[in-house]
Amino acid sequence: MSDVIISCKDIVKTFNSGEAEVKALQGITLDVYEHELLMLVGPSGCGKTTFVSALTALLSFDSGSCKILGKEITTMSDEEKTSFRGENIGFVFQSFNLLPSLTALENIALPLTIAGVKRAKALAQAREMLKAVELEEKADTKPNNLSGGQQQRVAIARALVHAPKIVICDEPTSSLDHKSGQVVMELLKKMTKEKGATMIVVTHDSRVYKYADRMAHMEDGKIIKVEVL
Ligand SMILES: Nc1ncnc2c1ncn2[C@@H]1O[C@H](COP(=O)(O)OP(=O)(O)OP(=O)(O)O)[C@@H](O)[C@H]1O
Ligand SMILES: [Mg+2]
Repeated sequence: MSDVIISCKDIVKTFNSGEAEVKALQGITLDVYEHELLMLVGPSGCGKTTFVSALTALLSFDSGSCKILGKEITTMSDEEKTSFRGENIGFVFQSFNLLPSLTALENIALPLTIAGVKRAKALAQAREMLKAVELEEKADTKPNNLSGGQQQRVAIARALVHAPKIVICDEPTSSLDHKSGQVVMELLKKMTKEKGATMIVVTHDSRVYKYADRMAHMEDGKIIKVEVL
């Protein structure tokens, strides 16, 4: 069994919006192992996005703890959290979050330039990633002129360009057609194996379940079952 890279214990999160109280996470305990692709599945509203936001400290939670790479991130300052995420975690969202004014290549280079890598070197590394996602010919194209599947491949290249140990994907294939979805998952799986990363993929697209090493099922803010595939 590989080492535990993320360890969540009893995470509780309640949203208070107006009069209604939503118990979004009701005590989530989960270990994630190094180099695995863990899928997080469950009905809409069960707390998947809340959970991945909480575990990466993008969202504060009421109680519980989460250790990533041995570090308790909830106790870090905002600055430490940001730099910890920048160094160790890559994100791929349903909406690709690409910057419209930058080319595909510049979008991919962004995490590197933010981390202080010189522009020329960052662009060279970004070009390698663009090759890996088979979009070399689109280097100078802006996101608006790319298809949905192509934009998602650029977003994946950007999430992986700084070789983060952990990659979090929230519904990476839900705005894609079947074929583009399969291409994106193949790519995520391949890049994870090649880079030795650990991946958490939130999805309710049953067509991509086959790419999971383990599948955690959520319902009503709880993990009800973890399957090893
Ligand atoms: N900022 C917020 N304020 C109030 N309630 C929220 C907020 N964010 C999420 N919720 C509520 O928390 C619950 C869990 O939401 P969450 O977005 O985590 O679900 P999800 O499993 O990701 O759903 P989907 O599959 O539709 O993306 C829902 O009932 C949602 O309405
Ligand atoms: Mg969600």
